[in-house]
Amino acid sequence: MKRNRIVSQLCIFVIPLAVFSFCSSPVETNNKQSAIEAEECVEVSEVNPNGDSELALLMRKLFEDADSLRSAIQAGTGNIDEDYIKAIEQCHTATPTDPDVKSVDYQAFTNLLAMEAKTLMNAEDNHVEHFNSMVGKCIDCHNTLCPGPIKRIKKLYIK
Ligand code: HEC
Repeated sequence: MKRNRIVSQLCIFVIPLAVFSFCSSPVETNNKQSAIEAEECVEVSEVNPNGDSELALLMRKLFEDADSLRSAIQAGTGNIDEDYIKAIEQCHTATPTDPDVKSVDYQAFTNLLAMEAKTLMNAEDNHVEHFNSMVGKCIDCHNTLCPGPIKRIKKLYIK
């Protein structure tokens, strides 16, 4: 009888305590850590009030110019130009918030985006289709390196 009581007390107090101390604290810090990392990438201006990185500013310009380009392409009144392609190529050298994003993948994704932009520039027709493929290249890189702004970038697609 007495032994049984001790065993059940063990179950009630010691085991949950052990489980709690083994599992809960590392998991919690991991979650917090990744939440912070994701934020840094999404809203640079809030996390980094001393100034946005060179790459963040360049990305904002690429986004805004793509938004104007979207209207022009939709209306059939304009197309992408050399300046936009030059801006894409500046991604190779612009300093990011997090230096770790500048991986081999990063360079490859930048080249793919530049290629797609040139295809759009040289296309005689199907500009809407080529524009949407270019937006897809923005998203390919963001899927791997910086998922935060994807929802915003997807709004560039011409339906
Ligand atoms: C080679 C990878 C890559 C490609 C391609 C890419 N991006 Fe980015 N983008 C990033 C990274 C990395 C950041 C984070 C920049 C930083 O914080 O320094 C970013 C940030 C952004 C941001 C947030 C900027 C801010 O206000 O902080 C937007 C918007 C954005 N990109 C839009 C685009 C658009 C539109 C395209 C396509 C024309 C594009 N991106 C192509 C990697 C990429």
